[in-house]
Amino acid sequence: MSEIKVGIIGFGTVGAGTYELLTKNKEIITSRVGTDVTVKKIADIDINSDRGVPVDQNLLTVDALDVINDPEIDIVVELIGGIEKAGEFIIEAMKKGKHVVTANKALLAERGREIFKTAEKFGVGLGFEASVAGGIPIIRALRHGLCGNNIENIIGILNGTSNYILTKMTRDGLPYTQVVEEAVNLGFAEDPPTLDVNGTDAAHKLAILVSIILGYPISFNEIYREGITSLTPDDIRFASEFGYSVKLLAIARISGDHVEARVHPAMIPKGHILANVNEVYNAIYLEGDFVGPNLYYGLGAGRRPTGSAVVSDVMELARLIRVGQKGLLMTPLGHAHSIEKAISLQPMEKLDSPYYFRFSALDAPGVLSKIAGILGKNQISISSVIQKGRKVNGSVPIVMLTHDARESNVNRAVSLIDELDVLTDKTIIIRVENG
Ligand code: HSE
Repeated sequence: MSEIKVGIIGFGTVGAGTYELLTKNKEIITSRVGTDVTVKKIADIDINSDRGVPVDQNLLTVDALDVINDPEIDIVVELIGGIEKAGEFIIEAMKKGKHVVTANKALLAERGREIFKTAEKFGVGLGFEASVAGGIPIIRALRHGLCGNNIENIIGILNGTSNYILTKMTRDGLPYTQVVEEAVNLGFAEDPPTLDVNGTDAAHKLAILVSIILGYPISFNEIYREGITSLTPDDIRFASEFGYSVKLLAIARISGDHVEARVHPAMIPKGHILANVNEVYNAIYLEGDFVGPNLYYGLGAGRRPTGSAVVSDVMELARLIRVGQKGLLMTPLGHAHSIEKAISLQPMEKLDSPYYFRFSALDAPGVLSKIAGILGKNQISISSVIQKGRKVNGSVPIVMLTHDARESNVNRAVSLIDELDVLTDKTIIIRVENG
């Protein structure tokens, strides 16, 4: 085969980065694949705006079906995002025997089973390196480099927008709303960045990673999600006094039938490698039973890093097409078994973790003992307490760290404590991840 032809659906930020990389690095790509990889068509509803990259106007079309129905196109790259239309285009392309590359984390996390099964049914490859952590090749690491390991533990910073916001809140002591406003004005965050800050984006990515590890799509809706919107500079400062940084973490623990997957803000020791991942950077720390600890770090978003991930999939598929391979060397999730089995995640109420509490209370005799009494009755053991004289909104913050406690006990205790007449505001809870 003298040339492998690619069609791109979606010419936004990532589409433009993909096209730019395929054209700018054409020589090295040809050398590494062993044949030319050429973009034959690009579909987008807007074919007039300047994408900052020179494009032959003859490649452009407003109709995605022009790409899907083109018999010469071997690989369809879906970069429009969203679920419904993107899913239709991908399935249609697969039915036509095209290999597909996508960056669409929401689609794969929420409708992955259908997409993966369609790829298998039509014997086509599906590349989705760009769906998790942009330029970091974590999917390739799991599917290839670490494929002999049981992966038992993943802790990721998978959302650059939240990480940027938390970095600014930590460094400058600014409230969440002010940092978000600045980030939106500077173009670092979408307006509003809802899915980034409420944990959904990171949970989509975690769902994909855990599904690859298990070889079965997990149910996205079972992943516990909590965002960063109610974090305050006070909590970040208190965490720091205890020796911790606050990050939005995506955490999975897998051991036999026990599968835990959750996204929430967490305090991690300042000495932990993830505590030092700042600004818009992403990182994934994982442990395999043979490889031990592994760390991946890089840019999780943006035109060039995400384009780099998309092109890596295009090249892997192109190499296989060149040697006459019909599908990918492996199924999308990298296991040979059927993906029908349903996996249940551990309910959050069963989590055992250390916790941080900030109680807002009147500064009066006996307050601490009332709080401690309720904690004790609910099997929650305190490991440290700080009570500062300084007032936060008219009340005194009592800040505690606990030993391991059961989430259901914590919820029960905190709702009882919040009913005490000496409490002036709802208690703030942050889980602690000692890594
Ligand atoms: N919006 C995401 C982030 C990047 O802020 O990390 C795309 O997944």
